[in-house]
Amino acid sequence: MVAFLVDGARSGVPSTPALAVRWGLTHGLLRRALAARERSGNRDARLLRDPALQAEPWEHYRELRRHRPFAQGPMGRLTAHHDITTRILRSDDFGVADRDQVFPAPVRLGMRLIGPRRYASIDDAPSMLAVDPPDHARYRRLVTRAFTAKAVAALRTRTEEITAELLDGLEPDLRRGPVDLVERFAAQVPLTVIAEMLGVPPERREDLLAWGDGGAATLDLGLPWSRYATAERSLAAFDGWLREHLRTLRSHPGEDLLSRLVQVADDDGSGLSEQELVATSMLILAAGFETTVNLIGNGTQRLFEHPDQRALLAEQPDLWSNAVDEVLRHDSPVQRTARLARRDTEVEGVAIRQGEIVVTVLGAANRDPAVFTDPERFDVTRSNARDHVAFSSGIHYCLGAALARMEGEVALRGLFSRFPDLAPAGTPVRRPTIILRGWTSLPVHS
Ligand code: HEM
Repeated sequence: MVAFLVDGARSGVPSTPALAVRWGLTHGLLRRALAARERSGNRDARLLRDPALQAEPWEHYRELRRHRPFAQGPMGRLTAHHDITTRILRSDDFGVADRDQVFPAPVRLGMRLIGPRRYASIDDAPSMLAVDPPDHARYRRLVTRAFTAKAVAALRTRTEEITAELLDGLEPDLRRGPVDLVERFAAQVPLTVIAEMLGVPPERREDLLAWGDGGAATLDLGLPWSRYATAERSLAAFDGWLREHLRTLRSHPGEDLLSRLVQVADDDGSGLSEQELVATSMLILAAGFETTVNLIGNGTQRLFEHPDQRALLAEQPDLWSNAVDEVLRHDSPVQRTARLARRDTEVEGVAIRQGEIVVTVLGAANRDPAVFTDPERFDVTRSNARDHVAFSSGIHYCLGAALARMEGEVALRGLFSRFPDLAPAGTPVRRPTIILRGWTSLPVHS
């Protein structure tokens, strides 16, 4: 039985029985646990199960903040405070590795029997997001140079060209009727930029979008079976294509980041193994567009809702850069993350045992009145908008923060300057993801 399950996974795309067992042991059990916690009155469990509450979580976040340093979440402690969030994310007492520790012993045994996934993923080792030092520093060092402020500044002109081309393409269609802004613009800007940086051929970009969308769901807890199966199959397909693509780059390297990474892995003993290389490439590609699409979508929607702020930006275009940080603060594309205690420790006198999980609700910390005056107000002139934790903090601080800010600014500024009469044209549809907050579709007209 076990051999059959593992063999199914070895061929690349996982077999349905292998997936079903893994789902049952992880998301399936978590779904039942969350339902039980909701029944016993835990409101955060309700949020994780209720799309209406996910859409408007702000009052729930205020309630969470009444508990200091932690509120009780469905799986453990949870903080909505900016200073506690920052402290945990920066502390060496907390890490990201060995998340399976949170499962009970029989589940861990079951997972060991069916073995690890055979394909890379965004949130499992050796993805840089899921490892502690020293491996973390080793992976990050190899890619940092491509994302420095200087490297990003050099990409601005190309991002402006990409934006202008996409807006040119939108113009005739907008005159004819409603257009989905996410599909035609918000997703395309970051996808095209990261695909060019990493040397992904144009004919593969739509596949990439589908795999990234599917794979992004794996960040969430308690996925229903059908979404889980789609997500895992997306990751397996993404992995399969990446391995093939990296093989091609080995024999025919280009000037892109992946070609450079392949050479480091080949020539230098301290480089990346194939598994590490695939996980790093997958993370950078997926993180490169799965989050920034939400920054552009959320920013558009916030500006539709706040015409006074939109008018201010039209009068004072210098405010665009700050406006992007205010969108990140007010409507954060990544709503939460978590850490595990690496050793027994304490936070403001509360004892935390080794292996305990602590959730930091970034979207709530970004509305903490101790840091942001009148935090519920969307204000593009806010002087400390940049103090948000939308990009996390500490060693896992977003590698692509400078790139995301630049893309968000170029895209939103380009969009609203080109179409000053842009307006919603129907009901927008939210993404079904919980940790990633954004829109699947935003119909607009001009
Ligand atoms: C608005 C857009 C973005 C947001 C809100 C965002 C947010 C985040 C957050 C919150 C984390 C840390 C999670 C944690 O601490 O557990 C992170 C990490 C990361 N992000 Fe972003 N991100 C964005 C865009 C990008 C882009 C454009 C890239 C491009 C390459 C990128 C690449 C990464 C990588 C590689 C990591 C892992 C860093 C590490 O573990 O050291 N992100 N991002």
